[in-house]
Amino acid sequence: MQDVTTTAFMQVIGRRGAPDWFVTEYFRVHETSTPEEAIVDSILNHATGRPVFAQIIGEDVPHIVRTIHLLTRLPIAGIDLNMGCPAPKVYRKNVGGGLLRDPEKIDQILGAMRAAIAGTFTVKMRIGFDGMQHFDRILSLIAKHRVDLLTVHGRTVKGMYWSEVDYSAIAHAVRSVPCPVIANGDVTSAQKATHLLKETGAWGMMMGRHAIRNPWVFRQWREHQQGQPVYQPTLQDVRIYIQELAEVCCDAAKATEKQAGRLKKFLNFIGLAVDAEGKFLHAMRRTETMRDLLQCCDEFLLGAQASTHYPVEPYRGLVARPTRETQQTCEF
Ligand SMILES: Cc1cc2nc3c(=O)[nH]c(=O)nc-3n(C[C@H](O)[C@H](O)[C@H](O)COP(=O)(O)O)c2cc1C
Repeated sequence: MQDVTTTAFMQVIGRRGAPDWFVTEYFRVHETSTPEEAIVDSILNHATGRPVFAQIIGEDVPHIVRTIHLLTRLPIAGIDLNMGCPAPKVYRKNVGGGLLRDPEKIDQILGAMRAAIAGTFTVKMRIGFDGMQHFDRILSLIAKHRVDLLTVHGRTVKGMYWSEVDYSAIAHAVRSVPCPVIANGDVTSAQKATHLLKETGAWGMMMGRHAIRNPWVFRQWREHQQGQPVYQPTLQDVRIYIQELAEVCCDAAKATEKQAGRLKKFLNFIGLAVDAEGKFLHAMRRTETMRDLLQCCDEFLLGAQASTHYPVEPYRGLVARPTRETQQTCEF
């Protein structure tokens, strides 16, 4: 996730039971692009022991191929094409989710990528741009170009992050392509992942925002699968997690308001399971300095409630409202 899956964040997640693999933030591909150093660093130094896929976003075929040659020198598990980013700044340039309007272009890009990637080639897509009129055609291109793994986020680009996820469309993709399909979109917990595996027939699940909220979820998933007791973090564990995020994901050289803004980006999701009324979300959004923000975390997560279990599902009705500070910085 852009501006989230940094080296430091991967390390924080890794310490709580990493996913089976990670996908990097996207490398932007255009005429003058070179692989962003910070993303290269996340590949080299995440120290989780898990494989990492390098994600690219772009539409210029020669430069995509040039970038693939640069990225394959790195210790990556494969290369992933982003066909889902819904930020208008991105899709207006016909990259990310914008590509889903243009199957002919997808045909060219997938063909060139398949020819350039000797190893594992994966694609992450949404089910369409503003409807599903090209879905079947795009799935046939995934098959034609022998993509090795397809992740489907069951929303359209216009559905952003909030429309209902169409799991039947993911099930349709599973039946339509020869490669394994990973289901994505509102996979909130290990229990829901188990249910969705059956419902969609998918090979696996990808988690985004809910892994920010609950970094123990991958461990819980493994325990759940193996019939072992599932680890239940407490609110105190959540406070420790937040402290780590504050220390390693916020730049101490920046103004305290900026640091607080960055931490709120994570808290916006974490807060969905702190209290049912959303009081923590309300209070934390109103703080301005790091000191006040961390004190607010202490008030809601420590003291009498420190040993309260942190629920596996978010509370109903709460929303991770993007604010000026927490808005996704998705640019191209
Ligand atoms: C802050 C943020 C950044 C994201 N950046 C990327 C990205 O760079 N590449 C990508 O494929 N998806 C990106 N996504 C989308 C997620 O990977 C995922 O598809 C989406 O959030 C739905 O899954 P979820 O319900 O588990 O969050 C991003 C999502 C968020 C919230």
